Amino acid sequence: MVQSTTEKTQNLEELIGEISRYEQIVNQWDKNQQVVVERLKEAIESLHKEALTRLIKTLKKEAFPALQEAVEDELVYGVLRYHELIKPPTPSLKQRIEQALETVRPGLKSHHGDVELIAIKLPDTVEVKLVGTCSNCPASTLTMKQGIEQAIKTYCPEITKVVSVNHTVTYTGEKIDSPFATSQEVGWVALARVDEIPNGGILPLEIEGLKLILVRKDNIIKGYRNSCMHLAMPLDTGEVENGILTCLHHGFKYDLETGECLTSPGMFLEAYPVKRSGDKVLVKLA
Ligand code: FES
Repeated sequence: MVQSTTEKTQNLEELIGEISRYEQIVNQWDKNQQVVVERLKEAIESLHKEALTRLIKTLKKEAFPALQEAVEDELVYGVLRYHELIKPPTPSLKQRIEQALETVRPGLKSHHGDVELIAIKLPDTVEVKLVGTCSNCPASTLTMKQGIEQAIKTYCPEITKVVSVNHTVTYTGEKIDSPFATSQEVGWVALARVDEIPNGGILPLEIEGLKLILVRKDNIIKGYRNSCMHLAMPLDTGEVENGILTCLHHGFKYDLETGECLTSPGMFLEAYPVKRSGDKVLVKLA
């Protein structure tokens, strides 16, 4: 006769209850007696494990679908897991990304920020969004690189690109973590730390509506308006290779050392004076 789900659950609870009752009794015995019971339990379990191993071996050969169906039963699954006869399910890519983000959340939350998974673009790209204070903190690039990106790559080695959809940093002028405080010198504003600008890459920034890019090649740092000379589209989404930035929109190319447009020689990106003060990068805005 087929058992209903309710009957199965009742039986399961009774079986577990019975084990608990005996465990409680044994726990009151002296140590020597407990060791004997433990050995007896291990011997019976070994016998069961061997029997189950043989059963699985046969089922795998003769009736694999039936084995799969049997494992869907929580009791069968639990017992086989207990005997280490089946592996836990491999977490999906999304689950592993969420696990990775969980590891960095305490740090972000301590700064009143957080991170959200926006999209998985197979085979190798993940898009995330910084929220809360993290979304407009000047250190967000560092947070992305050293925290979030590293965690995701550790949990998901198949992911090689982690992109922040709010990658542009909005500088509010507020004193958010002292390294980013405004310089005392007139017209010069501390906008980032040197190590926030990827070497050979770009750091986009925004201050009071002015959109800039800082570019770095080793110790040489330049600042330009984040605006393509073609149709004034943002440049920070472009690709940089060997010091040449290619605008994503229609392919205009720029030499990042001089700001010259290689597609239209003689034209230059609007440059802003940049200097270093310790590990800070200062830009002259006025
Ligand atoms: S806007 Fe940059 S190439 Fe057209």
